[in-house]
Amino acid sequence: MSFIDFFRRHPNTIDEAFIESPMRDNWYQASSYYPSPFALITTVDENGDTNIGPYQLTFPFEVIKGRSFMLCSRQNSNTDRHLKRTQVCALNYVEYDKKWLKKIVDLGYPGQATADKMKDSPFTLIDSPSPGREADGKRFPKILKEAFQVYECVVDVAQPVRDDGNTPEYFVLRIEKILMKETWAKNLANGATRLPNVPLAYGFRDGARFWFAQHKKPFWFPTPTDRGPKEESVLYEANRLDPDVRFTREACKQLTSIPKPFIKTALKGIIKRAKEDGVSEVDIDYVKKLNDER
Ligand SMILES: Cc1cc2nc3c(=O)[nH]c(=O)nc-3n(C[C@H](O)[C@H](O)[C@H](O)COP(=O)(O)O)c2cc1C
Repeated sequence: MSFIDFFRRHPNTIDEAFIESPMRDNWYQASSYYPSPFALITTVDENGDTNIGPYQLTFPFEVIKGRSFMLCSRQNSNTDRHLKRTQVCALNYVEYDKKWLKKIVDLGYPGQATADKMKDSPFTLIDSPSPGREADGKRFPKILKEAFQVYECVVDVAQPVRDDGNTPEYFVLRIEKILMKETWAKNLANGATRLPNVPLAYGFRDGARFWFAQHKKPFWFPTPTDRGPKEESVLYEANRLDPDVRFTREACKQLTSIPKPFIKTALKGIIKRAKEDGVSEVDIDYVKKLNDER
């Protein structure tokens, strides 16, 4: 039986027994399969030039109220050194393009100075549109024109790196601004009918290959309406509409009788009224007050 025939006949491994995978250094890629998006991190080098470093180990860390990212880097990478010096970076995300991926692997080859590796970069460096974050040749890096989104971050010095010369460096990066191409920002604001074609990194294997994958057309399932507390979806929707007006859980319980198609409009109406009244937290008493008025 050929190798291809074998996999055609065995499309999955569900019935196989588990065996142990040896714990190797860089276990996430050497002892397991861990696909994830990756960021192209721009920082400023010692000469004031922007450096691009690809990093897969970048994860959302604080997600409610705090907005931060965790980054793990090998010791003494350009990004690691630049972050310690400038404490500023931008995480650039690009869509799938096989030509770019080949160049991204080159940008990820350890030990290259910024000037050397950037000669071969396929990306266009531009100033950030954020006031005060224009590239200044000292701290603020350029961003990638080709990116569909960029997180502009500073190192959170209140949550310092464990610098024991042993573990990879990890940084808590506070997100100051999320930049996005207009199409994607509008898509997100309108409930998202499409998703960007984000390439996935499967990591470095056999000392010789860096694996990537492309996902197929995204699809969605409706979130369940018959499980958990009824107010959960109202609470989620209510607290993402306007950062200046928060809803309490009790207030949202009061709103669960509104039919789903009308909930967003109702919430927007409450937010508008709360702002007129100078109310920043919509609680149950405020909802009752509005109901009584009606
Ligand atoms: C797609 C991709 C993802 C990578 N992810 C990481 C990572 O999460 N952490 C890390 O230390 N190195 C990672 N590497 C290797 C770094 O890119 C490499 O250390 C490189 O030297 C970093 O660039 P810099 O020195 O300019 O910061 C990755 C490489 C590639 C190609």
